[in-house]
Amino acid sequence: MSLWSGLRVRWQAFKTRRKMNRQFGRREDPFSYGRFPYEKARLEAMQAALGGRHWGRVLEAGCAEGHFTERLVRLADRVTALDISSVALARARRRVPSAEFQEADLLSWSPPPGALYDAVVLGDVLYYLDRPGVAAEFDALFARVASWLKPGGRLLLAHGFGGGAELAHRRRFRERFEAAGLALVREAPVEGAELGGVRCLLSVLEAR
Ligand SMILES: C[S@@+](CC[C@H](N)C(=O)[O-])C[C@H]1O[C@@H](n2cnc3c(N)ncnc32)[C@H](O)[C@@H]1O
Repeated sequence: MSLWSGLRVRWQAFKTRRKMNRQFGRREDPFSYGRFPYEKARLEAMQAALGGRHWGRVLEAGCAEGHFTERLVRLADRVTALDISSVALARARRRVPSAEFQEADLLSWSPPPGALYDAVVLGDVLYYLDRPGVAAEFDALFARVASWLKPGGRLLLAHGFGGGAELAHRRRFRERFEAAGLALVREAPVEGAELGGVRCLLSVLEAR
């Protein structure tokens, strides 16, 4: 990464961290996981998409306060979860003491040398990183994430959409992972989960 692109990535991370820390600082559970049936149904569908199998090492990026991490630790031996917000992470650490949490910007984060994951989870996080000033780094992220999976490892994408244009945008995330070498296993909006016209597209991809 050049000095200039490094500065742009750090500036974008600074702005996102400040925004997210403000959002989480206003109150606990700012996304209302505890209140909206939509969120419960979405998390259950994400869990079901990984269910039926016990996972070794799993990475969750953009874990927020750990609502999905809490479910993930029941499915895996070892869960690493990262988020850019220290405020969210403090709550996530209390909620899920058995997971390993890291404060990090997904755009510049890399796993420890040699580490590969059986599954990676990206839930409602990619659109935070899709910013004009860091387009090249965002483009590069798809191949980077794909390279973090073991052969046969799975990537779970779960992103909300409010209409046809947003659905196409969320599908484009999946297409970019396919272009990076992952194979689509299945993809569908979560049935019966809607909040103010917003639904969630779940995609499962596999590393060859
Ligand atoms: C809407 S929440 C999604 C939480 C959870 N993944 C889910 O599916 O319910 C988005 C989270 O992504 C985090 N986030 C945003 N940009 C990030 C970045 N560049 N690196 C890591 N985490 C980021 C935010 O702090 C926030 O906690």
